[in-house]
Amino acid sequence: MKRLLRIDASARTQGSISRSVADYFQVRWTESNPGGRVIVRDLARYPVPHLDAATIAAFLAPPPPSGGPPPEGLVLSDALIDELSSADHLLISSPLYNLTLPSTLKAYFDHVIRNDRTFAQVEGRYVGLLTSKSASVVTARGGVASPAAEDELQTRTLRAILAFIGVTKVDLISLDGMSGDEASRSRRIARARAEIDHLFASPGEPVCLGPFTEEDRREIGGLRAAQAAAIQRGDAEAYAALCTDDIQLLIPGHEVVSGLERFLACEAELFRSASFASFRKTPERIERSGDLAVEVGRQEVAMRRGGTAGVFAARQKYTHVFRRTAQGWRFAVLMSNAIE
Ligand SMILES: Cc1cc2nc3c(=O)[nH]c(=O)nc-3n(C[C@H](O)[C@H](O)[C@H](O)COP(=O)(O)O)c2cc1C
Repeated sequence: MKRLLRIDASARTQGSISRSVADYFQVRWTESNPGGRVIVRDLARYPVPHLDAATIAAFLAPPPPSGGPPPEGLVLSDALIDELSSADHLLISSPLYNLTLPSTLKAYFDHVIRNDRTFAQVEGRYVGLLTSKSASVVTARGGVASPAAEDELQTRTLRAILAFIGVTKVDLISLDGMSGDEASRSRRIARARAEIDHLFASPGEPVCLGPFTEEDRREIGGLRAAQAAAIQRGDAEAYAALCTDDIQLLIPGHEVVSGLERFLACEAELFRSASFASFRKTPERIERSGDLAVEVGRQEVAMRRGGTAGVFAARQKYTHVFRRTAQGWRFAVLMSNAIE
């Protein structure tokens, strides 16, 4: 039975936008996981206390003899970690408060980030232990995000914390401009719901040649969905995060784009000049050889160029090379050609 752990951080239990979009995610998750269980941790109704000296002392003390009761300072932390560890997927809904995440959410993480429970130190390096989990983060903010600004602190902090405990498959659904007018707020909420629909859409399965495990198929399927979601959101950083450091982008008639930095700059430039109304992929065949997998398929894109009315649509053939890295499968080569 699949388990979803939902963590809500908005102090508003009524009228909260991040909670309402998380409600929608929960409905879609429940439809996709019949018989699944949803556990809700509501940090406004039941706040987790800030760390105190007794809890820190218990964190640092040698582990108690097995079989005995846990020290009092560990009871809450143990319960929260057990709950977190039992989940397959995390859904975090969180507003932006004063440039970063709400302190209630930080207090929660302070109790679950624990040596040898959610992370470990291996040969002088920190290694996250919750690697089999994925997460979806719904964030809401009053203002509008600017790409390089310090007001990105919440997203960056949440991604860093989740990665630290081993959760690196993170989908971000961000709602900005929530203190704007009703019409643009509704539009943004509708877009967030569409992004969620996309996360749950089951893309056509390609013919698989070679030794793909269930995990490989799931990961590569997740990469395709994350790519489409990043492109539709116009999120160059999220797109780049799906690629290897030596990514190659080959578009006929254009110079080859090599390396992550150039790729990021190139995609950011594209997303500044155009937005994608839709991006749909139909993978046809994928063949694996060692740590590489080559996929061919078709994709349909509909984009709006800045300042021009109407939508420009194209059908393309694509060839993608995936490479398995220490962080999992990533895009290594992206190539597409127009069909017509
Ligand atoms: C205490 C507080 C601090 C806030 N700080 C910021 C901020 O730094 N930047 C911003 O864009 N919006 C800020 N906002 C606006 C909220 O992020 C926005 O209203 C959001 O929709 C709240 O999430 P909710 O609707 O889920 O409660 C703040 C709101 C509150 C109540």
